[in-house]
Amino acid sequence: MESLRCEFSVPFAYDVVFGEDVFAGGVIDRITSGGQRVIVAEGAVMPLMRGIPDVVVMDGGEAAKRDSAVFDRCVELFEDLRLDRHAYVVIVGGGAFLDAVGFAASVVHRGIRQIRVPTTVLSQCDGGVGVKNGIDAFGQKNFLGTFAPPWAVVNDWKFLETLPDAVFRDGFAEAVKVGLIRDGAFFEWIEAHADALAARDKAAAQNAIHRCAELHLNQIAKGGDPFERGSARPLDFGHWAAHKLEVLSNFRLSHGSAVAIGMVLDTLYAERVGIAPQGTVTRVRSCLERLGFELCAGFDVHPESLLKGLQEFREHLGGRLAITLLTGIGQAVEVSEIDLAEMTRCMTEVLAHNTHPCSRA
Ligand SMILES: NC(=O)c1ccc[n+]([C@@H]2O[C@H](COP(=O)([O-])OP(=O)(O)OC[C@H]3O[C@@H](n4cnc5c(N)ncnc54)[C@H](O)[C@@H]3O)[C@@H](O)[C@H]2O)c1
Ligand SMILES: [Zn+2]
Repeated sequence: MESLRCEFSVPFAYDVVFGEDVFAGGVIDRITSGGQRVIVAEGAVMPLMRGIPDVVVMDGGEAAKRDSAVFDRCVELFEDLRLDRHAYVVIVGGGAFLDAVGFAASVVHRGIRQIRVPTTVLSQCDGGVGVKNGIDAFGQKNFLGTFAPPWAVVNDWKFLETLPDAVFRDGFAEAVKVGLIRDGAFFEWIEAHADALAARDKAAAQNAIHRCAELHLNQIAKGGDPFERGSARPLDFGHWAAHKLEVLSNFRLSHGSAVAIGMVLDTLYAERVGIAPQGTVTRVRSCLERLGFELCAGFDVHPESLLKGLQEFREHLGGRLAITLLTGIGQAVEVSEIDLAEMTRCMTEVLAHNTHPCSRA
């Protein structure tokens, strides 16, 4: 047998810029100067886009990626505008909108340059600064999607001011998450500033977003697997249960709230099987509660249906099961086996929402 080998690597680099009033301030014009461009924004951010010409507005929120309507509209739009591969698509919106429009930009002409302007805390510190996009299909989250590093990301504080409290808070679940698995000092900082963060203190929120984004970018740039070819999903702590809870709640439970519950569940489990020291779950729970998270689903969750989330999590990634568990504050380990009986006991304990007051019930 004879073979020809083709081997190459492609360097990627992009900046995540932090600013305020970036459209009026000319930041976007500078990044896109000399190129064809289109700005696509979700309706919720339009009050902050007054005076910006030629903005194409579409519906945002989770519905934007639930089916292919926004994706299809973007593909048609890019064709109508005769955008080429060197054009810039400036996407302004929450994580769901960035995912749907970014997916369209990444497949038209096999990829147009995308500039993301995330407008929620969660997207500014997590999804919006990363390399993934996609839409749901066949009832599965992110069934269709691509890995497509952005041309640039611009985090504008101004957009966060119009967020409802619950949406604002959601992003801090991801900050707690990266602190817990990667940076104990950051988690301790969040604990010390939980009241300020809950009160939307600007300096505290900006610091949390900055560090959370930095830790996510470190994982992409230095984690050795930016396009997730292996089985590991090291930043998905608390996420297997979260994804399933979101679906089971018919998306009434937001991603951040679901992640908060998922982290408590997996931390309790880690404590019970002796991986995490006693007292860890109390600390995690109390930090999340002080940030304002309600650690209840608001509906009856059957352990068997939630457990299916483990299987689905593995299927989405391929390979063997890889669940991230805390070994302490700021340290995590990956396990490939879960004691289902113990996990079921932990679920019953965490999700017995009649033991907590729950406004979602
Ligand atoms: N690509 C990734 O790597 C990645 C990572 C994490 C999460 N995600 C995805 O991101 C989505 C969640 O993102 P999200 O938390 O930003 O939620 P979201 O996009 O659904 O936005 C939350 C709500 O806030 C509204 N909104 C957005 N900006 C606003 C503003 N400035 N003022 C007022 N309202 C505004 C939206 O219309 C929506 O109703 C999920 O679909 C998740 O799968 C993707
Ligand atoms: Zn998440």
